[in-house]
Amino acid sequence: MTELITTIRTMNLISQRYHQQGKSIGFVPTMGSLHEGHLEMMKQSASENDITVVSIFVNPLQFGPNEDLDNYPRDIDSDFEKAQSVGVDYVFYPSEQEMYPERPTIEVKAGELATVLEGKQRPGHFDGVVTVVNKLFNIVRPQRAYFGKKDAQQLAIVEKMVDDFNQQVQIVPIDIIREADGLAKSSRNVYLTEQERTEAPHLYQSLKLAHSLYEDGERNSDKIIAETTAYIKAHTSADIETVAIYSYPELVEQSHISGSIFISLAVKFTQARLIDNIIIKSEES
Ligand code: PAF
Repeated sequence: MTELITTIRTMNLISQRYHQQGKSIGFVPTMGSLHEGHLEMMKQSASENDITVVSIFVNPLQFGPNEDLDNYPRDIDSDFEKAQSVGVDYVFYPSEQEMYPERPTIEVKAGELATVLEGKQRPGHFDGVVTVVNKLFNIVRPQRAYFGKKDAQQLAIVEKMVDDFNQQVQIVPIDIIREADGLAKSSRNVYLTEQERTEAPHLYQSLKLAHSLYEDGERNSDKIIAETTAYIKAHTSADIETVAIYSYPELVEQSHISGSIFISLAVKFTQARLIDNIIIKSEES
């Protein structure tokens, strides 16, 4: 039976109880609107921990003034059912008043890693993410926390935060879950028009093209970026915001590729801003 918890105090007490019993807690932080990608993280958590806690909280601190905070899709009944179907024990669903009775005086700063890519496009976004993730870690006190590789920059920043603050939680990265046609699952896909939905899988195709160029030995980032960009332009009506190659997890832009990298893209359709990436691990240096 899955339980819905709405207060920090109750969540704290539950977590404390499991700690005392020596049981492990796996944690999947989300903003709701759950899809296969989230469910995959929950399943993995349920298989690796005694207890799985999922949080559903649309965190206002990580939305910019012109972003989709008010319109962000919310459906707690359906989310609860989905979490229940994959064996989640607790859904932590606090109100905004419960999480932020007032705007926090002290916020965590994501620093250097947030000055590029998504962080550059969305100033303050990652500060909001690390602030809420810190709070959630303190409330839930998990042994393991699950983050998707789709938000690769978020994953790198959260891993760095845990390291910098010596937090006692293991971050478990989860592969991107895709639709059958390759489109990365995202809560924002619902904003795509019918026509855009047919175009969107080409984003993944463009990343596969980039990957194949890399596999064929191309190490000049500009060349890979140019071909990837041209492919997206030819196959979609989206405005391209970013096609970039960065080292991973250090997030330093690469003009000549060496070592592990990620190829990251962000595009805007009429109502949906989509991101996708591939991480390429390399033994080269
Ligand atoms: O990835 C998300 O859904 C959010 O950024 C997170 C980690 C739940 C923090 O609000």
